[in-house]
Amino acid sequence: MKAHDPFKLLAVDSDARALDDIRDCLAEGKLDVTTAPSGAEALRVLEFSKVDLVVLDLQIPDVDGLSLLQYIREHFKDIEVIMTAEFPTVPDAVLAIKRGAENLLVKPLQPDELRSTVNRLIGKLSHRRALVFECTPPETYGLIGISDGICNVIERIERAAAINANVLIHGESGTGKELVARAIHYGGDRAAARFVPVNCTAIPDTLIESELFGHVKGAFTGAKDSRAGFFQIADGGTIFLDEIGDASLNLQGKLLRVLQNKEIHIVGSSHVRKVDTRIIAATHKDLLAMVDKNLFREDLYYRLDVVDIYVPPLRERPADILPLVNHFLNQYAKEMGIEPPIFTDRAIENLKNHSWPGNVRELENLAQRLLVNADSDTLDVADLPKTMRQGVRPRAEGLQTLSALEAEHILRVLESTGGNKTRAAAILGIDRKTLREKLKRIVEIHQPG
Ligand SMILES: Nc1ncnc2c1ncn2[C@@H]1O[C@H](COP(=O)(O)OP(=O)(O)OP(=O)(O)O)[C@@H](O)[C@H]1O
Ligand SMILES: [Mg+2]
Repeated sequence: MKAHDPFKLLAVDSDARALDDIRDCLAEGKLDVTTAPSGAEALRVLEFSKVDLVVLDLQIPDVDGLSLLQYIREHFKDIEVIMTAEFPTVPDAVLAIKRGAENLLVKPLQPDELRSTVNRLIGKLSHRRALVFECTPPETYGLIGISDGICNVIERIERAAAINANVLIHGESGTGKELVARAIHYGGDRAAARFVPVNCTAIPDTLIESELFGHVKGAFTGAKDSRAGFFQIADGGTIFLDEIGDASLNLQGKLLRVLQNKEIHIVGSSHVRKVDTRIIAATHKDLLAMVDKNLFREDLYYRLDVVDIYVPPLRERPADILPLVNHFLNQYAKEMGIEPPIFTDRAIENLKNHSWPGNVRELENLAQRLLVNADSDTLDVADLPKTMRQGVRPRAEGLQTLSALEAEHILRVLESTGGNKTRAAAILGIDRKTLREKLKRIVEIHQPG
């Protein structure tokens, strides 16, 4: 959705003439008017498109207008409703206002009255929309960092946010790919519509179509109600396809079809619906290598990879470690209502030398743990987890003992394998059991107290 998109009005009335009158009366304004002759049809429109305003008649054939009003209030909080009725009773009018209708207009509708009520509501809706746009994050989009690597990412986010092309984000786990995707969405003119994250590994093959495109009531056994799919929910907004490298070939095929045609078939319905959805995909896998092995469709790859953003791992941008850890310490300290502690120089040196296999997420978890365990206002090397202390040598004694050197080497290898003991044992040329025993001794020796 863009800040200046027309607002969408749905008029619900069983009388076709009344609907025509509403359409004629509001045709000149900047409104996109849709009509529905029944409650069921109204629900379908509400479910499948982003309605801003409803003009709802009290006497519709299949449901009670006041019940539908209540349903709208409960399920679509942002929609404004105007009720209409031919012979409204006072209790009806009171109930309508009580249930959140803006007004109850008596039929036949007076064009001036309808227009001024609608205009007042448009004013309210515009104000709300403006607030959403003003709340878009500042220039750095919540991304902390000063390295060239992160500055380059921010520059690419800006360029991607300014256009509507699909984006492919790649980088190791925990580097901030989802944060980048959100920054592109909230930094662009779709910010007021939804950002819908979809984990491609989590969709069972049998439910792909219904999850993506929605289904109508009774479309298959168990489909008790109609349900909107990700593409309807994200209409006007962005779908974030996370872990796209893990999408099955079946899912890849379905996605490719929507990207090509920009339309969807709702399961169980013969209607085809146009959708306007931006795609941002992310993966930690090498998709081109997967294309070579026929595990990823080449045509889909090129549709996604229009703008390419690589988020470098933390070990390639050590300049970001200190700003990030301070950011997380401040954030959690604030939540806990305490003063954030300060690192000693030696502790900072250790943080910079760590290889950060878990990237920013690992660093965030560390900040949290350090705060919970902190018992003074400074954090020194001894406060860091053991795997981060390998750079600390018993400097006072000068040379180290053989077992201290061995311990240091083992921890360094273990760190380089991301904690994987089987691989560490293979590199060290010992078996897993020996490694386990050695680790147990190291832990005992380094255990404080
Ligand atoms: N530059 C950054 N500034 C501030 N916070 C960050 C930054 N990068 C990552 N984070 C934070 O680190 C955590 C992990 O980031 P995110 O979930 O975006 O990573 P990811 O690449 O999607 O990881 P995965 O591949 O495991 O899904 C989040 O809490 C995120 O807010
Ligand atoms: Mg992620």
